[in-house]
Amino acid sequence: MARIAIFGAGYVGLVTGACFADLGHEVVVRDILPERIERLRDGEVPIYEPGLDDVLARNRERISFTLDVREAVEGAEFLYVAVGTPPTYAGDADLSAVWTVIDELPDDARATVVMKSTVPVGTGEKVRAALDARGLDAVGYASNPEFTAEGTAVRDFMEPDRIVVGAFDESDGDAVEALHAGIDAPVVRADVNSAEMIKLAANAFLVTRISFINEIANVCELVGADVLHVAKGIGLDHRLGPHFLRAGLGWGGSCFPKDSLALKQLAANSGYHFQLLNAVIEVNELQKRRVLNKLERHLGKLRGKRIALLGLAFKPNTDDMREAPSLVLASRLIAEGAEVRGWDPVARPELQGVELCATPLEAVSGADAAVIVTEWPQLLEFPSEEARQAMRHPLIVDGRNLLDPATVRALGFAYEGTGRRISATDVLPEIAEREPETSE
Ligand code: UDX
Repeated sequence: MARIAIFGAGYVGLVTGACFADLGHEVVVRDILPERIERLRDGEVPIYEPGLDDVLARNRERISFTLDVREAVEGAEFLYVAVGTPPTYAGDADLSAVWTVIDELPDDARATVVMKSTVPVGTGEKVRAALDARGLDAVGYASNPEFTAEGTAVRDFMEPDRIVVGAFDESDGDAVEALHAGIDAPVVRADVNSAEMIKLAANAFLVTRISFINEIANVCELVGADVLHVAKGIGLDHRLGPHFLRAGLGWGGSCFPKDSLALKQLAANSGYHFQLLNAVIEVNELQKRRVLNKLERHLGKLRGKRIALLGLAFKPNTDDMREAPSLVLASRLIAEGAEVRGWDPVARPELQGVELCATPLEAVSGADAAVIVTEWPQLLEFPSEEARQAMRHPLIVDGRNLLDPATVRALGFAYEGTGRRISATDVLPEIAEREPETSE
């Protein structure tokens, strides 16, 4: 079993550290935030990630936390870099935290640096050159990108579709591969640049699929088709596959927006205009705003209208608000003069002008419309007689196609999904009177 130091106690670092400990390795996680390290030492898990607390709890013997670089590096055979790489104003990945880790390595370090953070292609070569310039020949380098999604991160680590290892020296690659013994998955060995590109390309491809199905959904709305049937019908083609074909109001999160922008900028900085990726990103920006048009179609001008946003996190099973479509939606609604209420079972964001409510029912009380922004399973129970009566207008705009339209309509709601057929009952009676052209 190996001794592994992990730099960064965020989502990626903690999941990586906990899972390596679970595989039997000795792990020390280093972070620069005293409060975070303190809490972790006390057995608290500072992020919301289902299952992570159990893995950490059952491996307390094998995992420790420190603020001290020396303590982390001492005796470690692997130095995993799992720090954040947020976008700069230029859209490139900000590698300052990565460089801090590399620069802080002591002169007598003897270990393999393993890059887990998502970095631009070419970063490994630059780090290698910096290590060489410092005479740190005993320090190896490998790229081992992560493909874990929030909410399922532990499972994604332990049962991955593949493990990617890029290295300059075969022996470093072999050693990093061996760390994963016990995980049953194909291993892709590559050069460092290609390993870095695999991560960026995978995320770019996933967002392309989502933006594609979102555009199909938008066309479905115009021509009277149902995107759920379409997604099923195309997903069964083995060449296409069923995943990431859920139409909605856009992709967000800690990775997709930043990584797609980083790849776009990486290409641009290298002299290539990545047209397709540009379009994929733009489609996503527009997708988040489409709900406004739907609401206006039903309610007219939104000034003074009360809109409930149900689900605020960028997806269910996380409290993460990074690049959540709810942020764009809330600020657009406020800009239009609407009164916005929000509910989420876990996320507690401080959104200016948004009143947070304890229950969906409270959020929709007196509301002119409820928008399902995040498909939390709790919301399956939301459409009820009580909820309908509590609303000023019983209109549900389902941004995630969570609910069954027939059931919701039978309860007396007007319902509009995403990329689904709109029926005559979906127009509120008083609005149908005012704007007869909107009824079918
Ligand atoms: C993603 C990748 O899945 C993961 O491999 C990578 O390491 C990090 O980024 P994550 O951001 O946690 O993981 O969430 P994911 O479940 O992939 O969803 C991302 C966004 O896409 C969410 O906003 C989600 O609502 C949206 N999405 C996903 C869709 O709109 N439709 C889909 O079909 C799938």
